[in-house]
Amino acid sequence: MTSSMTPMKWFWGFLKKYCPLLVLGLLMTTVIAVLAIVNPYVSGLIVDDVIRKGQIQLLPRLIGILLSVTLVRSVLRFFYQVIFEKCSQGVLYDMRDKVYRRLLTEDFAFYGKKKTGDLMSRQTGDMDAIRHFVAYIIYAVYENVLLFTFALCMIFTVNVRLALCMLLVLPFTALTTFCQARRVRPTFAHIRSCFSSLNAFVQENVSGNRVVKAFAKEAFEKEKFDRENDAYMEAQLASSRVWMKYLPVFEVLSYLLNVILMLYGGHMVIQGEISLGNLVTVNGYLWMLTVPLRMAGWWVNDIYRFTTSVEKIYATYIEEPKIRMPASPVARRVMEGNVEFRNVSYTADQECIVKDISFTARKGQTIGILGSTGAGKSTIMNLLCRFVDASSGQVLVDGVDVRDLNLYDLRDNIGMAMQDIFLFSDTIEGNIAYGRPESSFEEIHRAAVMADANHFIQRLPEGYDTIVGERGVGLSGGQKQRISLARALLKRPAILILDDTTSAVDMETESYIQDQLKRLNGRCTIFVIAYRISSIKDADQILVMDGGRIIERGTHRELIARGGYYADAFRHQYGEIPPAGEFVPAKGAAFANTIAYGKE
Ligand SMILES: Nc1ncnc2c1ncn2[C@@H]1O[C@H](COP(=O)(O)OP(=O)(O)O)[C@@H](O)[C@H]1O
Ligand SMILES: [Mg+2]
Repeated sequence: MTSSMTPMKWFWGFLKKYCPLLVLGLLMTTVIAVLAIVNPYVSGLIVDDVIRKGQIQLLPRLIGILLSVTLVRSVLRFFYQVIFEKCSQGVLYDMRDKVYRRLLTEDFAFYGKKKTGDLMSRQTGDMDAIRHFVAYIIYAVYENVLLFTFALCMIFTVNVRLALCMLLVLPFTALTTFCQARRVRPTFAHIRSCFSSLNAFVQENVSGNRVVKAFAKEAFEKEKFDRENDAYMEAQLASSRVWMKYLPVFEVLSYLLNVILMLYGGHMVIQGEISLGNLVTVNGYLWMLTVPLRMAGWWVNDIYRFTTSVEKIYATYIEEPKIRMPASPVARRVMEGNVEFRNVSYTADQECIVKDISFTARKGQTIGILGSTGAGKSTIMNLLCRFVDASSGQVLVDGVDVRDLNLYDLRDNIGMAMQDIFLFSDTIEGNIAYGRPESSFEEIHRAAVMADANHFIQRLPEGYDTIVGERGVGLSGGQKQRISLARALLKRPAILILDDTTSAVDMETESYIQDQLKRLNGRCTIFVIAYRISSIKDADQILVMDGGRIIERGTHRELIARGGYYADAFRHQYGEIPPAGEFVPAKGAAFANTIAYGKE
């Protein structure tokens, strides 16, 4: 994107495509404006020539003109409205598409700092302001400028003095419009902010309804909602109060034009300076002078709303994702799964999240990562998937820096069951097959069996066709974890990441899943992040993390022998470390033996 790009230039890029159509529409608008001056003129002729001079034979022709002009105007109006509507929908379609594509490429950092409600309103309210501009404002302003100019010219050709006299009122109308627009604009801005605040409140409450219920905070939330609702209504009323205040002024001013015309124009008719027909003609042009002036205030506000909306959408759009595809990526469709971290540090907001991380994981190995919350475990996996980029050091997959790999190839080779699980509003089958939609049911079923999800899925009333996600059946935490594990397994990735994936399942299920994972048998590199010793004790290498650093590493036996953090964690979870040979467990009795000596 060039630096000289501005929001308006960006918008023009979308409109350009529809230029021929728009020009056609504006041509029709011009014809309509020209035709608008015909009828009052013909009415004048009817008064002068037919009624006063009695040339009755002219009447059919004049009536014919009146009717056909009206007919042509209505037909043209229909067509150009269709044209502008079509253009506006086209512009909107392209813009929505482009903005959505950009949203898809944005990185974790972008979504971390943006509010969902704001991003939604870019795609709804702001887009609508743009549609309104293209579909209505463009031609309305153009047409009314023409009408105003034509009417003024026609009145001048009838009689200059009468025209000048009527011109006296117009500055007052213009001034009133200006004042109204200025006073109404802040109220509009206020309405919009109240509306988005109300929206955000409702959105949050709907998503957080379980918490509201659990804490019995309905009354509290209702009160907060009432405040938002009141504020919104008050904002609307304040705006209409401004509008109501100016309404009588406009009425008086446009009535004043009529009065001037009747008094001064009537006087001129009596004096014989103009004909009665002229008076009727000028009367017919009056609306062409007042309507544009009265509406100008609204249009100015609509244009203002349009420009701010374009600016807001563009501001979201130009945020370049920091994680970008390399210019010429190293071609690696299928990866082996050898991972190496070389002195990797990651700093965000001047805060060191992980520091000096180095380790290697060869194809087929299992790496366990243990550490308290906030130790930086998920961050290491985010670095591996390139959700974030290292501030220093290198992350290598199969010997290639991840920043040189094709981003999609890299992620395609990684199967990840994330810590915060997200299921789409789709069937369970669809959710599991998300990464490999072409999978057969057989494969999906096998992945579910491996993740120990098959049992509970089959017990659901609609089995694999059960709709889950936002409004779906409430699955338990452990059930969601197993679906997300099945989703990661189905990809048959070179690197499998299980971030806290079995924390909510019982010990029995966990050891079943571990047995299943062993059957992957060296085909993929597995990272297991967990708090439970039982989840990682069989790993080829265990990394113990604290405060963003690896503080211990080794196998289960080595770490127990070392007597450090890991051994402490073990003691907390299983009681005392047994002297070799005998073991009296404190917790998790049934598993303690497999845990301590599972590998031997
Ligand atoms: N992009 C970021 N900006 C600021 N802080 C972050 C960012 N990513 C992670 N953190 C912080 O770094 C710490 C480690 O996070 P994380 O890797 O998720 O820990 P873990 O998975 O071990 O619980 C946390 O305190 C978290 O708030
Ligand atoms: Mg984490």
